[in-house]
Amino acid sequence: MSGTSMACPHIAGIAALLIAAHPEWSPAAVQSAMMTTANPLDNTGEPIKDMGFDYRVATPLGIGAGHVDPNRALDPGLVYDATPQDYVNLVCSMNFTPEQTKTIIRSSYNCSNPSADLNYPSFMALYEVQAKTTRLTRKFERTVTNVGNGVATYRYKLETPHGSTIKVSPETLVFRKKNEKLSYSLTIRYRSSSDSEVTYGSITWVEVNGLHKVRSPIVVSPGVNND
Ligand SMILES: *[C@@H]1O[C@H](CO)[C@@H](O)[C@H](O)[C@H]1NC(C)=O
Repeated sequence: MSGTSMACPHIAGIAALLIAAHPEWSPAAVQSAMMTTANPLDNTGEPIKDMGFDYRVATPLGIGAGHVDPNRALDPGLVYDATPQDYVNLVCSMNFTPEQTKTIIRSSYNCSNPSADLNYPSFMALYEVQAKTTRLTRKFERTVTNVGNGVATYRYKLETPHGSTIKVSPETLVFRKKNEKLSYSLTIRYRSSSDSEVTYGSITWVEVNGLHKVRSPIVVSPGVNND
């Protein structure tokens, strides 16, 4: 009735509808469209609560990008695209044995360019919990493709996670035509002396004089192996 198992058929069905409307989109573009147009608020306009966690406000680790909105996903404005080789490069960066890598990729593969920085529509920076002050600087590079109708300008809006500062460059993305790709960098600086906590925010690229809003969750969290 709820949870990942019921989300899977819903999401797969919505993906099939999106591919029918946009047969030229890659699987990564379809996923991006669903994520960046998802609604992080519930049906009363409040942040989504976590049923399994005392009804506290849910973090992106619980709800991902939010509740998928199929109609908005039809027209996301921008997508974060990726090729099968980009996913292979990600798997290659994860220190699996050749046998494990083959089990995941299931065909012959080329691991000559491992990379953990997949062009993914969300951001997660993990820090190691240290005795006194935890410090982290992590720079991400992303490329967005204009799948809107042509000329468009976007400016970013940030919700900065508590305890971090975020720098984005450039400040505006000016697209001159459909399918043009532009890149930006996002740098997270985290400083804390408090206990490990998961903090979160978002970056939204907002179309100037237009309707598109392209939102990505940002999470700054202690790494899972640092008890
Ligand atoms: C593997 O990919 C690299 C580029 O990333 C290319 O230069 C090389 O020729 C490829 N190797 C094979 C065996 O296809």
